[in-house]
Amino acid sequence: MREKDFVAGEYSGPFLDGKVTYRSPSNIALVKYWGKKEHQVPANPSVSFTLDTSATTTTLSYTKLAAPGKDFSFELLFEGKPKPDFKPKIHTFFSRIAPYMPFLKSYHFVIETSNSFPHSSGIASSASGMSALALCLMHLEKELQPGMDEIYFKTKASFLARLGSGSAARSITGPLMQWGQHQDTEGSSDLYAITYPHKIHEVFEGYQDTILLVDKGQKQVSSTVGHNLMHGHPFAEQRFKQAHDNLSELRRVFAEGDLPKFIEIVESEALTLHAMMMSSLPYFMLMKPNTLHIINKIWEFRAATKLHVCFTLDAGANVHVLYPASEKELILQFIKDELIVYCENGQYLCDQIGKGAVAL
Ligand code: DP6
Repeated sequence: MREKDFVAGEYSGPFLDGKVTYRSPSNIALVKYWGKKEHQVPANPSVSFTLDTSATTTTLSYTKLAAPGKDFSFELLFEGKPKPDFKPKIHTFFSRIAPYMPFLKSYHFVIETSNSFPHSSGIASSASGMSALALCLMHLEKELQPGMDEIYFKTKASFLARLGSGSAARSITGPLMQWGQHQDTEGSSDLYAITYPHKIHEVFEGYQDTILLVDKGQKQVSSTVGHNLMHGHPFAEQRFKQAHDNLSELRRVFAEGDLPKFIEIVESEALTLHAMMMSSLPYFMLMKPNTLHIINKIWEFRAATKLHVCFTLDAGANVHVLYPASEKELILQFIKDELIVYCENGQYLCDQIGKGAVAL
């Protein structure tokens, strides 16, 4: 689909008041999105595991206005309380999606949102939050366009979510999602994510992600600022090419269940992401000493046991520990015995690969 396919046509359904709830998961990138062009177009394609228990639940209540307003009309409640500091982000989101959803100024919205993960855990909620809101808005648009099919619904939800936060495009379905145009994947697009269409070996069923909360504080540099530092970055072109190559290689790895190669690509992607931050101008570092202690412990344990445990990182100090379900018992014990000590207040979250967002 092209951009113009997402501009809404005539609305034939009635403009009713209503309410809808979606629960949308977070996701963890294996090949990282880092660097973007205008309009949230990624500089390279990425692929992610959709998560299961780490999720945002959003209820959107909508009331038709007597006449369309000059500006967007909405209230925002986070975990039951008004949250004025989230409002500018939602306002920007509405402004970006308004060309594709002309009904937005005809309603007053109440957005009630909550996360399954603890407040200020250092886990980014933009992917799960923006995708949940995009899905709620698509529910309303489907009422106005009753003939809309399921594929268009999900594709446009991903398209809209991307305009809120790039990684949110990948939180619609599962178990793996690919976002960004790539030569080996017909139907892949910079405008939205698709369900990973190639073969996935059964070793990835129920794949585990234990998230170690190393640092729950506010990040010094936001993802948005970090992405922008890829403009004029001395290693940018090589990095974008590497992401394309890693996606090509992962196609065979996913199909064959080649875990040693999977581990190599995933860890290399995580370290490259942070290497890009460290070699930007201005340079910055989001890993903490405990991030490095955990990485070294994982490497020692893997060398000693030959178990298939590896790590990845997002744009922060927390560590995602990835491993197959069949090795869960031994690896979870290792995590509890040797890694939790490096977490802030001993906090960690157990998650696994998931199927995507659901309407409640
Ligand atoms: C390191 O999606 O948070 O997690 O598009 O500016 O909202 P914006 O950025 P965001 O960036 C995520 C970066 C990442 C890698 C990834 O998820 O692919």
